[in-house]
Amino acid sequence: MLKVIILILTYLLVNIRISSGVEKIIMLPEPQRISNFSLEEALQKRRSRRNYSGEPISLEQLSQLLWSAYGITKVPFYKTVPSAGACYPMTIYVSVVKVKGLKSGFYQYIPKEHQLELISTDNFTDQIYTCGYNQGCLRNQAITILMSADFDKITTRYGKRAYRYTYMEAGHISQNIYLQTESLDLATVAVGAYDEETLNKILPIPNKEDIIYLMPVGKKRTIK
Ligand SMILES: Cc1cc2nc3c(=O)[nH]c(=O)nc-3n(C[C@H](O)[C@H](O)[C@H](O)COP(=O)(O)O)c2cc1C
Repeated sequence: MLKVIILILTYLLVNIRISSGVEKIIMLPEPQRISNFSLEEALQKRRSRRNYSGEPISLEQLSQLLWSAYGITKVPFYKTVPSAGACYPMTIYVSVVKVKGLKSGFYQYIPKEHQLELISTDNFTDQIYTCGYNQGCLRNQAITILMSADFDKITTRYGKRAYRYTYMEAGHISQNIYLQTESLDLATVAVGAYDEETLNKILPIPNKEDIIYLMPVGKKRTIK
């Protein structure tokens, strides 16, 4: 009986989303879990790269980056990054500017289903650039990955220590994105300098969340 109710609810949910006109849930392509690009090479080549060509990246590349950031590696919840007490206080958002086959807008990554949920069709690039103190790396990117923390998910267990743990987790995610970016021959940089209070207010995220790290990603700009 419960199964039938769940099936009906899922069916209704999917249909409501589709009938609203804009596709709200986007299934991402399956990420590659094996490649010929070695970890050692990624570590050797990893660099903060702040210049992007302005060209789009592919949906496959976006999928790979999000999986490396916070993707599931073992059911029910184990991920590509460690998390203190498996609390996973982070939500990954993507401000999509130029991705082939995907509308620009603000999306939430859903690790469990490896999906994107469209949160807003608004383009927040200018606001992110301004909040990021007009840093050049926040121009010409194809996407910006934003790590957002819900401290309530972890403070109940770890109290004051939870803040330290959450920032450590953001570091793990960031390094994964750096390494994955190298293996995809893309460019990224970790951005910690931005007006957090204003960005939290501007972006369509829940009040209780804080954006704690940004990573613009784009195709490398080759300087001739
Ligand atoms: C916590 C943190 C915050 C950072 N914030 C910025 C930033 O706001 N803007 C920027 O251009 N680089 C930023 N960086 C990147 C550093 O400048 C960069 O890692 C450093 O210059 C060393 O270069 P490499 O990453 O190429 O080895 C940040 C790095 C870290 C770890």
